Amino acid sequence: MSAIDPKSVPTRTLSTGEKIPCIGLGTFGSDHFSPQQVSAAVAGAIRAGYRLFDCASVYGNEDLIGREFDRAFREGAVRRDEVLVASKVWNDMHGRGDVLLSCAKTLRDLHLDQLDFYFVHWPFPNYHAPFCDVDSRNPDSKPFSVEEFMQTWRQMERLHDMGLVRNLGMSNMTVPKLQAVLPLCRIQPTVLEIELHPCFQQPALFDYAVAHGIQPIGYCPIGSPNRPERDTTPEDLIDTQAPQVVQIARAHGISPAAVCLKWAAQRGQVPIPFSLHHYEDNLRCVTEDPLSKAEMEAMKSVDQNCRLIKGQVFLWPGADSWHDLWDEDGTIVK
Ligand SMILES: NC(=O)c1ccc[n+]([C@@H]2O[C@H](COP(=O)([O-])OP(=O)(O)OC[C@H]3O[C@@H](n4cnc5c(N)ncnc54)[C@H](OP(=O)(O)O)[C@@H]3O)[C@@H](O)[C@H]2O)c1
Repeated sequence: MSAIDPKSVPTRTLSTGEKIPCIGLGTFGSDHFSPQQVSAAVAGAIRAGYRLFDCASVYGNEDLIGREFDRAFREGAVRRDEVLVASKVWNDMHGRGDVLLSCAKTLRDLHLDQLDFYFVHWPFPNYHAPFCDVDSRNPDSKPFSVEEFMQTWRQMERLHDMGLVRNLGMSNMTVPKLQAVLPLCRIQPTVLEIELHPCFQQPALFDYAVAHGIQPIGYCPIGSPNRPERDTTPEDLIDTQAPQVVQIARAHGISPAAVCLKWAAQRGQVPIPFSLHHYEDNLRCVTEDPLSKAEMEAMKSVDQNCRLIKGQVFLWPGADSWHDLWDEDGTIVK
């Protein structure tokens, strides 16, 4: 028996008609938490009632997480067809044939025959080493190219054709990039994973995805308080200290983090909070005591367009600043 009945967790419906839980568990240890710590949280979260897990090869922990999936299936804690597992191809595996290799390794590591979601983690092959700092640059980095992205996407489509992946996803895209690639996709993405939290609501990108039948998945839903050093600048706002968030938390007698998650789930994205210590509370909070219409409206004013994961380490030689990665004037920066 799960601590929280998975049936009590609200769902979102994908363009395929499939229903997915309105919250999942993130598994990026943010360079601070070991694979052992993260996989222990996954094991606990399965038993708490989580049914959606956001993994990635670059998080360096899929092998240990896979052991926990395997153990949970063998012990009967959950059936394979009751959980949804996502993974992502990392930037150094975009080359011809490499996506298939990467997917095969992820499947082996996760002890699975099929992934429920497979994302292109970033829309370019710009690689950074694990644990690098903010000034790290790869001289081979290049701006986004529609042709290169579509070569990667064709490999994703093959994985779908082969039955190794049930849903395809994109991540860290912008409206101009989506406008360029969606008409070229034989198989459309059903999900889009992007940074979404109260201080960074990305309304235009969110609305564009929804209008195209693509379910937004929100990363850093609590403002990623333990994110790597390279993703931290003095100007960054702290979502859990935003006055409206704190006020709503007080009114409900809950934590500001819970307000961030309730808001996310009620707005319509699927937040994927990482947590070693609060995962049970986080799942429970979306099953009870929703924010009122007025509170949801008030949350709109928390948005300060404050991007946390700026992506400096992906910049190419000649790029001006991290803003170039995000096509802020409505055209793809080349
Ligand atoms: N696609 C991409 O490019 C991309 C980029 C970044 C992240 N992601 C995904 O998104 C996931 C989530 O993002 P994130 O880990 O950066 O940030 P986050 O989920 O916003 O923040 C995680 C942090 O919040 C704390 N926390 C969680 N629940 C809490 C609660 N109820 N009260 C107080 N603190 C709480 C956790 O601490 P405790 O451990 O102590 O609970 C953890 O340190 C990642 O794990 C990863 O799966 C994807």
